[in-house]
Amino acid sequence: MNVTANASKAPITAASVTVHRARVLPPPSVRGGMPLMEAMSLRRSSRTFGTGPLSLQHISNILWAAAGINRPSGGDRTTPAWRHIAAISVYVATPDGLYRYSPEHRQLIHHLSADLRAMSGEQEFAGTAPLDLIYVAHGDMLMQLEEPERRLVASVDAAFMGQNVYLYCAANGLATVFRGAIDYPTLTAAMQLGPDEFVTFAQTIGHPRYVQDCPSSLESGKAG
Ligand SMILES: Cc1cc2nc3c(=O)[nH]c(=O)nc-3n(C[C@H](O)[C@H](O)[C@H](O)COP(=O)(O)O)c2cc1C
Repeated sequence: MNVTANASKAPITAASVTVHRARVLPPPSVRGGMPLMEAMSLRRSSRTFGTGPLSLQHISNILWAAAGINRPSGGDRTTPAWRHIAAISVYVATPDGLYRYSPEHRQLIHHLSADLRAMSGEQEFAGTAPLDLIYVAHGDMLMQLEEPERRLVASVDAAFMGQNVYLYCAANGLATVFRGAIDYPTLTAAMQLGPDEFVTFAQTIGHPRYVQDCPSSLESGKAG
């Protein structure tokens, strides 16, 4: 899954996204790359990030890994979901605003112009890394379940997405960490979510913090 060589260098910018309200992502790179067992051996959480933007190709690949369509039916995805109900939307917090990933149209749909990265987590790095994914559950799609089970199922669905993103990052030299340290009421209000929608977890992604950002070498950070 070595997409880096083919990756589009174009980052998401205000001009490229906000003007169009919806940004069509390049097709995901689904051939080749690092063997799965090697990627698993490299998987880890990182909490220090470079500030450089991710290419649109990386963003497309990351979102496809989390929730992309991978079979001709059009409804089957890269990650499993309870009763085949796609109850999680992946929101993408960037310096230019907040977007919702549309797997069907392979688009980033503009949601808000505010930069909510810092608000997506209680750890400082969330606000400096180029990308934070926020896994939002649509509770109205899980109405067959009582409230605690709804949260459990949504968390499991989000966790599968997070693990695919971990493996993509491991295979492509990116840094990431799945996060639950979130001020949920504040983030939910800032995202202007509907009454049945709730945040499950978030995940920060960026380039590793190399020498040019951190003179004393690559930092790995500690568990949060
Ligand atoms: C449900 C869940 C919530 C987590 N929340 C956070 C968090 O808020 N902040 C953080 O830095 N790491 C968080 N982590 C990452 C764990 O701390 C990390 O996976 C663990 O320390 C093991 O390290 P490793 O991922 O490098 O193997 C979370 C992991 C999981 C599964």
